[in-house]
Amino acid sequence: QEVKLAPTPPMGWMSWNLMEVNVNETGVKEIADAMVNSGMVKAGFNYIFIDDGWQGGRDNKNNIIPDAKKFPSGIKALADYVHSKGIKLGIYSDAAPLTCGQYTASLNFEEQDARTFAKWGIDYLKYDYCNAPEDVATAKQRYGKMASALRKSGRDIVFGICEWGPREPWNWGSEVGGQSWRTTYDIRDKWMDTEGKGGVGIYNVVDKMAGLAKFSGPGRWNDGDMLVVGLHGLKGPSSAFNGKGCSQAEYRSQMSLYCILNSPLYASCDIRKMDEDAKTIFTNTEVIALNQDALGKQAERKIKTDVWDVFVRPLANGDFAIAVLNKSGITQATKINFADLGLPDKYEIKDLWQHKVTGKANKWTGDITSHETKVFRLKKV
Ligand code: GLA
Repeated sequence: QEVKLAPTPPMGWMSWNLMEVNVNETGVKEIADAMVNSGMVKAGFNYIFIDDGWQGGRDNKNNIIPDAKKFPSGIKALADYVHSKGIKLGIYSDAAPLTCGQYTASLNFEEQDARTFAKWGIDYLKYDYCNAPEDVATAKQRYGKMASALRKSGRDIVFGICEWGPREPWNWGSEVGGQSWRTTYDIRDKWMDTEGKGGVGIYNVVDKMAGLAKFSGPGRWNDGDMLVVGLHGLKGPSSAFNGKGCSQAEYRSQMSLYCILNSPLYASCDIRKMDEDAKTIFTNTEVIALNQDALGKQAERKIKTDVWDVFVRPLANGDFAIAVLNKSGITQATKINFADLGLPDKYEIKDLWQHKVTGKANKWTGDITSHETKVFRLKKV
């Protein structure tokens, strides 16, 4: 059966971490240009997502309108601009009267707003669940209502469910018409958070997603929230953003692990002035190819110890991909016997960060630094 919407995980840039509620037309256009010039669009990052704060209420016919100061040319003109660059446009709303940032949202205006989004040329809707009732039945009903409104709108609009936690949207997100659902509360620019109060870190998300592999597949993805790659401890305008920043190894690990776990890939740093390392991460097409692989099979975690997490997945052409994460605070030597991962053969081993074949063997031996993830593509020989 052909999957029309999000057959592979959506990839792009999301405005929230950088701009928060100050998202605006000039900024979005500059980001679009930078995404083209940096090679990100060519590498597959072909959406821009306008997050919360774009709304300016409703007009006298109850049509939702953008804030005229932030978007003086209107959303349609912005959609035309990004489309001309080969980029699709996403927008944000919420299944309640108001969004998380207390802006106008879509409850009871689902069909009217879906028609407006379609008319503007919107390609994706991120739909949040702030200010809405706690029970699962209402969440399913409200998400289902917006999903069918989008389907009736006459435009292919991907539907991203921005909901997680006790309502466990992975159990029902696909059934009500969503193409993805969040797996945790908002990610912060840090490796790990043990309390869960100030947002989660990269490894908290990875650990959670590892247990949800069976819910993922073409057209239905576990969404690990934004890539914090390149943020370097940026403070957002309203200080909602409280990470302290990550090491280069940690940023690379987030990309590696989100790719092998098939999370949507939403860059969130300032693409206009990102460092070379962030650019290298966002244009590693060999790692991205795992995320965009046609088989759409999220990796399984085969080993979890105090020090190691090892993930394995099959790929459409018969190759396998493995990711080996050193969770400890020091460099560790390791030997991975592929047979222990259910891979009984001898393979040509390609390191997807070094971009070179390291040998032909039934094992890999080497050092992995603290919080680094090695990613290998294995081809049977
Ligand atoms: C929630 C979401 C974030 C962002 C904000 C906007 O916190 O999880 O990703 O969309 O709302 O207010």
